[in-house]
Amino acid sequence: MEQTLVILKPSCVARGLMGEVIGRLEAKGLIVAGMKMMQLDEQILREHYSHLVDKPFFPSLMKSMMATPVVVMCVEGVEAVRVVRAMAGVTNGRNAALGTIRGDFSVSGQKNIVHASDSPENAVVELARFFKPEEIFSYETAAYSYCYGDDDLKD
Ligand code: TYD
Repeated sequence: MEQTLVILKPSCVARGLMGEVIGRLEAKGLIVAGMKMMQLDEQILREHYSHLVDKPFFPSLMKSMMATPVVVMCVEGVEAVRVVRAMAGVTNGRNAALGTIRGDFSVSGQKNIVHASDSPENAVVELARFFKPEEIFSYETAAYSYCYGDDDLKD
């Protein structure tokens, strides 16, 4: 199964929305394979958002991501990267469709509740950035028997 990185941003943690977001991921049938709270610093954020360091909003993005601890999650499922991106919605919460996490809980292009990896390749790199191998777990869940049909698992 595919794994993806989800970060519950300070806009999620400080507003008391961690349970809402984790609940949505669980209710969808995704597996939480790793989860921890951590305080991000400038070094890890410069790596994580290296594609944005030259943008004018970068200092403000850094500040917003360090405002409180975050929760980093390894979320697993068939096509988990695509599924979680769809659940997150587009970047700006004002444009995100209702029913998505950003569409339902954010009015901001920056304080948009969650990060979700945007490709399977980036997910591998991002998970390695935030988790040690022993912090990601494989355990028995309802997912195989009750969330997926045989066809979903054939690849
Ligand atoms: P990006 O990787 O473009 O989007 P996404 O999180 O949807 O993959 O941007 C990363 C984060 O940078 C985004 O979640 C919020 C912040 N950001 C801003 O603060 N202002 C902006 O104009 C953009 C595009 C992003």
